Amino acid sequence: MKQFLITVVLFVSLGRTYADEGMWLPLLLGKQVYADMVKRGLKLSSEQLYSINKASLKDAIVIFGGGCTGEMVSNEGLLFTNHHCGYGAITAASDLQHNYLRDGFWAYDKKQEIPAAGLSVQFLLKIEDVTEEIAPALEGLSADDRSGKQSDLIAQVNEKYSDPLKNVQARVSALFKGNQFLVFVYQQYNDVRLVGAPPESVGKFGGDTDNWEWPRHTGDFSVFRVYAGPNGEPAAYAADNIPLRPKHFLPISIKGVKDGDYAMIYGYPGSTNRYETSYGIKLATDITNPSLVNLRDIRLKAMFEEMKKDPAVKLRLAPMYAGVANYWKFYDGETKQLLKYHIYEKKQEEEARFIQWAEGKPEFENIFTAWPKVYDAWKPYAKHRVYINEGILGASLAKFAATLIKVESDMLKQGADAAIVKQGLEAADAARKKFKDGADIISDQRIMAATCHMFYTDIDKAQHPVGFYEKIKTAYGDLNDAGTYKNWALAVFSNTILLNDAKWEAFMNKPDAVALQNDPAYIYAGGFVKNYNTKYEPLFQRFNIRNNDLGRLYLKGVIQMDPKKKMYPDATFTMRVSYGTVKSYSPRDAVKYDIVCTMKGVMEKYIPGDYEFDLPPKLIELVKKKDFGQYIDKRLNDLVVCFITNNDITGGNSGSPVIDANGNLIGLAFDGNYEALSHKLAFDKDMNRSICVDIRYVLWCIEKLGGAGNIIKELKLVKQP
Ligand code: ARG
Repeated sequence: MKQFLITVVLFVSLGRTYADEGMWLPLLLGKQVYADMVKRGLKLSSEQLYSINKASLKDAIVIFGGGCTGEMVSNEGLLFTNHHCGYGAITAASDLQHNYLRDGFWAYDKKQEIPAAGLSVQFLLKIEDVTEEIAPALEGLSADDRSGKQSDLIAQVNEKYSDPLKNVQARVSALFKGNQFLVFVYQQYNDVRLVGAPPESVGKFGGDTDNWEWPRHTGDFSVFRVYAGPNGEPAAYAADNIPLRPKHFLPISIKGVKDGDYAMIYGYPGSTNRYETSYGIKLATDITNPSLVNLRDIRLKAMFEEMKKDPAVKLRLAPMYAGVANYWKFYDGETKQLLKYHIYEKKQEEEARFIQWAEGKPEFENIFTAWPKVYDAWKPYAKHRVYINEGILGASLAKFAATLIKVESDMLKQGADAAIVKQGLEAADAARKKFKDGADIISDQRIMAATCHMFYTDIDKAQHPVGFYEKIKTAYGDLNDAGTYKNWALAVFSNTILLNDAKWEAFMNKPDAVALQNDPAYIYAGGFVKNYNTKYEPLFQRFNIRNNDLGRLYLKGVIQMDPKKKMYPDATFTMRVSYGTVKSYSPRDAVKYDIVCTMKGVMEKYIPGDYEFDLPPKLIELVKKKDFGQYIDKRLNDLVVCFITNNDITGGNSGSPVIDANGNLIGLAFDGNYEALSHKLAFDKDMNRSICVDIRYVLWCIEKLGGAGNIIKELKLVKQP
């Protein structure tokens, strides 16, 4: 294992390097990658990029809310991230009287900040290579044994490096598909407060129409503050907690960007699979992606219809809607780009080359005879899996009902443990409150009817839960008629105890498995999920274990086959740095996209009263007066709103700082472009762009639109000399 590492590092230093592609581990940049950064314009030492002894850039970057990135921008714990990352907290702080999602929110002093319950940030303390503690013990094990053993060993290392008393959590990440193991040690802070957010018409300007597209005119930012206990250590929310003093925070440059400028993005890319096989690509384009898109389409239409009508429903459904919509468009775009760029065929070519190389090498020569069989065994059930997760469980009522399977089984156990049952019921009661707060009954009922119908039509009848559709047919009629499912869903929603407070309370007081077994929502969700879990999930696990194991071997071979190739590990929601430049591109023949877009473009897109392209009156007033203050771009005589770079990022990087050659913040990354939506599986050097909100627009919104000069005062601004 050690050898593997040495090989990689050694050959990295021989390899030809070009920027753009690559999500590098700040710990393992290697001399050549660092040298290439410098060649591109970087003015910082590698110690300033990452150090565990001195304050370095890494100390300003946090995991925000468990799925996004944020960065420290003042010595009082002030944090910037995206609006869409703060979306849940902003919505939760809102009601119809204080509609901060719609109107924006600004704290003019610390007392006005709003605690965001449940929101946390995590600082990275250190990264260590623990390959030697894990890999040798896995040597020679079968795929099944390896998977279990690996989990056990990782759990042990995590425990060793964690310190719950200090809120220190360690998480081992299996990099290069399990060819290398690094432990990432984090410290978590749980007192995080909302400081500011622009109105949604700015923070989500362009909505889903413009999502994943350039040119983009969105002010996708929000502002939070991290608090610590009086001793500076992590603490639960308390009124007398004090603002955190971070080890490092980012100065902010308002000098503006130009084509070719160095740009570096630090953050937490969630997942990529750049060594996915041709079989995996085909499964995605033929089955899983289109299924997900069709099912989400139904859910989105049903939700949107009700959100349009009623601001209360809009507030309730907004976070769920945004999440579903974001990856609905992503997977639709991914499929289109995978097909357009012939990624399947390209992967086949790469595999043919590998097969040739592997001939006569016992460790590798059978990979591609075994792999198609693994896929063939799973393929007949792949659609079913998507239809459970995105269809049946796409109805919030069904999703909640399915969580009761555990409660039922605890109750039915021989000598049922009363304490465990009680615990399960209390959890269910809390989950029910959450479900009721976040769901809309009218759209949910429509979703249940439609997805149940789609499952009937699209999923192999032999895989249906036994007897379920026959009963619907007997009670409600023709299974090919949408009306049948509407009547059935109406009955489910009218009769379930899960939506009836009095009946639910009675059940909580006198819990009884039979009451669940007779409940129509539970019969439905429980029936489909148990059918899947008992018959098909084990096949999925089997597929997964084998697919992962072959993936690990394949990558090990690829590294040996191309020793000169500069390698970076796939994204695993661990801290990475990507470097590149501000750069224009040509999406198609005769079209060239500029590096920046401006307020002029915002006004061009403006549609008064529109759901996605409306604007706050105050913004229009300021633009009419050309009141851009110190944030104006002198070259363009306008306010720059967003810009693009060729950095390699993906979901999870949202909120990531875009950093210039001197370590200053110049923007926040918030999206990728449509032309490169296949980027999780295949990076396109020519097309791939990161979409970033210009920091000058962020500051303009804070100061001019929000009037929150108090926030600006806290920042360290770097201006034109
Ligand atoms: N596509 C962006 C991302 O995944 C999210 C943008 C949120 N905006 C929206 N209209 N859904 O980071």
